[in-house]
Amino acid sequence: MKIDLSLIGMEKGRQYETIITTKNDENLKNAAPIGVICSGPDTILNRIFKGSHTLENIISQREFVVNITHDPEIFTASTLGNLPQDYFNDDLSLKCADAYFKCEVESLKEAVKQSDPIKKKDEAIVIKSKVTELVINKNTKAMNRGFGYVVETLSNFSRFDLVGEEQKQEYLKRFREANRVVKKVGYIEDIQAMDKIKEELIKKGYEP
Ligand SMILES: Cc1cc2nc3c(=O)[nH]c(=O)nc-3n(C[C@H](O)[C@H](O)[C@H](O)COP(=O)(O)O)c2cc1C
Repeated sequence: MKIDLSLIGMEKGRQYETIITTKNDENLKNAAPIGVICSGPDTILNRIFKGSHTLENIISQREFVVNITHDPEIFTASTLGNLPQDYFNDDLSLKCADAYFKCEVESLKEAVKQSDPIKKKDEAIVIKSKVTELVINKNTKAMNRGFGYVVETLSNFSRFDLVGEEQKQEYLKRFREANRVVKKVGYIEDIQAMDKIKEELIKKGYEP
């Protein structure tokens, strides 16, 4: 069957937050939250910083699994430590995944993006991969961080007139960070929403 990442809501050019699972030479399985950029119906890009188990395993095995889940426990446990081995299936996927896809590495390239806050050269590797199998366990969409930021920014905006100057400056600081992330990863609708909020803040006499 033809692989089509749009079946799990992934659009070309957008970034999604996933859990990537890998294994090392001793078959020890590892999970970590990693951003995935969809670059076509069956191709993806990752940018992974050096020093992680995920990058070491991807370089040595040249294959990995991208898991789609919205479970906060999985994101937290795999960021702060690693998941117990019984969370994984034999094929490397997570037992709790709503959907997952298997990837084969096509190329690995040293890179650093100028807009990134982490500016040290040679710290990250951009990985281009082909999706070889897509498994959908239940109807789901890959997670995009944009909308959460829009809602948070709207919530702050709705309190803007009710707070003092110091808190207003704090909200403006949060707006700038939210806007940076939404511009980078959000859908066009998220970006337009942030632009509208920005206009309103300007009307109030501020420089967001
Ligand atoms: C939502 C989220 C997205 C992340 N995306 C990336 C990413 O795209 N690239 C990266 O190098 N690290 C990313 N990280 C950080 C790694 O998950 C983190 O460094 C992790 O500890 C690596 O674990 P490992 O050593 O088991 O591979 C992300 C973390 C979170 C919470």
